[in-house]
Amino acid sequence: MDISVKAPAKINLTLDVLHKRPDGYHELEMVMTTIDLADRIDLTETSQGIQLESTSGFVPFDDRNLAYRAAALVKQRFSVNKGIHIVIHKKIPVAAGLAGGSSDAAATLKGLNQLWDLGLTMEELAELGLELGSDVPFCVRGGTAIARGRGEDLTPIAPPPPCWVVLAKPQHGVSTAEVFGALNLDHKQERPDLDAMVQALETRNFHGVCHHLSNVLEQVTLTAYPKVARIKERMSAFGAEGVLMSGSGPTVFGLVSRESLARRVVNGLRGFCRQVYAVRMMGGLEGLPLDQIRT
Ligand code: C5P
Repeated sequence: MDISVKAPAKINLTLDVLHKRPDGYHELEMVMTTIDLADRIDLTETSQGIQLESTSGFVPFDDRNLAYRAAALVKQRFSVNKGIHIVIHKKIPVAAGLAGGSSDAAATLKGLNQLWDLGLTMEELAELGLELGSDVPFCVRGGTAIARGRGEDLTPIAPPPPCWVVLAKPQHGVSTAEVFGALNLDHKQERPDLDAMVQALETRNFHGVCHHLSNVLEQVTLTAYPKVARIKERMSAFGAEGVLMSGSGPTVFGLVSRESLARRVVNGLRGFCRQVYAVRMMGGLEGLPLDQIRT
């Protein structure tokens, strides 16, 4: 039997780090939302083992891959003695701050839950997902949510108003662990105003959402990679109404209210950044067609 599951990327509209925890993780408070840029995971049952292939040369095919680990976890936890063949049709840039690997893992959990009739609830899948990575619980649920704790304590909130998201990823990837490791929590800087962001979302105030975009991890990644700051400047110069780095980076996203403006921003990045996409914000509006421009 075969199953295909969509694995959408996320962006962070806000990201705040409250403190470092005794377990080494950081206590976070962020607003995350799903966008219409997605991988597709095809799952085919086999007699034994886990085989993985991908359309991208950038993803590992063994237990360094989060989708592989998701399958191994399910097989072991529920004593499943069948095998699985996983194909990852990769659209989301790798090591980009868009939770591509986490979303592949979440889609694999959801797909195997169906394929093997495990009867797990969304909460149980999210809990299982946390064993794989901090962003996996959000990816299991999708939509728009405040994420606290390591990222697993989720409160659904109103989705962003319909708009376009232009994404630009510089050539290099970024290690989340290294970015958190280099973060200086004493550094004086502007912190996200969570209440103001939630209010802007609830009132469908696009300009309010743009105004309150904020990510404390920018201080680390923008210093280490000045190109990220230059992409931000360029996106603003070409008309993006709000601009921010997503997660630990290095992908920068720009929010724009009109498709014509999204095209202008994409054109402004041509020749400056190789991976550029324009997609729709999804954040709760499931099922919009994939609509990408790749330069
Ligand atoms: O949970 P995940 O494996 O995705 O996290 C990758 C790394 O990011 C962790 O090893 C940790 O260094 C850092 N991290 C953190 N606090 C979080 C989430 C991630 O310090 N809440």
